[in-house]
Amino acid sequence: MDDLVVVKLGGSVITHKNRSPPATDQRSLLRIAQELRSHRGPLVVIHGGGAYGHQAAAQYGYQTPGSSPNQKMKGVPEIRRNMSKLAFDVQSALFEADLKPVVFPPFTWISLDGGEIVSYYHEPLERSLRANLTVITHGDVCFDRKSGATILSGDTLAAWMALRFGAERVLVGTNVDGVFHDDPHKNPYAELVPVIDSHDASAILGKVGPSRDTDVTGGMAKKLADLLNAAREGIEVVIFNLTVPGRLRNLLKGRSELCTRIL
Ligand SMILES: Nc1ncnc2c1ncn2[C@@H]1O[C@H](COP(=O)(O)OP(=O)(O)OP(=O)(O)O)[C@@H](O)[C@H]1O
Ligand SMILES: [Mg+2]
Repeated sequence: MDDLVVVKLGGSVITHKNRSPPATDQRSLLRIAQELRSHRGPLVVIHGGGAYGHQAAAQYGYQTPGSSPNQKMKGVPEIRRNMSKLAFDVQSALFEADLKPVVFPPFTWISLDGGEIVSYYHEPLERSLRANLTVITHGDVCFDRKSGATILSGDTLAAWMALRFGAERVLVGTNVDGVFHDDPHKNPYAELVPVIDSHDASAILGKVGPSRDTDVTGGMAKKLADLLNAAREGIEVVIFNLTVPGRLRNLLKGRSELCTRIL
């Protein structure tokens, strides 16, 4: 689809990730909704789980190797309830900004097999984009043919949606300036990597770590691995700091910004 942009809103930015019970960062969300208005053309907004997704998923064993399908299934209603709440907050902020948002929870339209997306119902989503609605979807728990239920991360979904719907760009907003040689929250001397060549990414992948916060989907390392798939198919991929006002707006307008570009 021409001019389609996929924007991922990191759960680390729109929620208070380590707060329990989970809470939305409404101030950031309202600011981000205004910045999203800079985009002209079809828009898919994908948000992560943040405090709403990762804590409940960890509690029901989604992070623990060998936990039974039964135990994981017990967590489905709570994870779904939490993600619906966050999706509603995102929808409300985008609604107030006049972005005409509609929400598609992956639980209702995607099936997994060993964590891979193997079947999906895309027609209402495509029609929404053609009708100039903003499509919101998010990291979620989904049925999985192998393991009962699996967490589909917002990052995996962003890369997959970009490929499936032919996006030109994927802008991945998180709480650090991009990909560093080492976790910047642990190593104050870590340096930002401004450009990663997808054909030569293994050296960097080896140094990138998980998340400092509760993150059942692997933090920065998994994020990078997912996005490399989209970059290899020629989609422009950018990882940037969404906590800094103005960066999303500048990137949407095609201006240069501090970030990591994956080529
Ligand atoms: N090499 C690295 N470069 C950058 N960040 C890194 C690196 N290694 C680990 N990290 C960590 O990854 C974190 C970002 O990933 P995290 O999954 O926590 O956020 P998110 O994806 O925005 O949130 P969510 O998963 O809820 O959408 C950073 O806060 C950082 O501490
Ligand atoms: Mg994450």
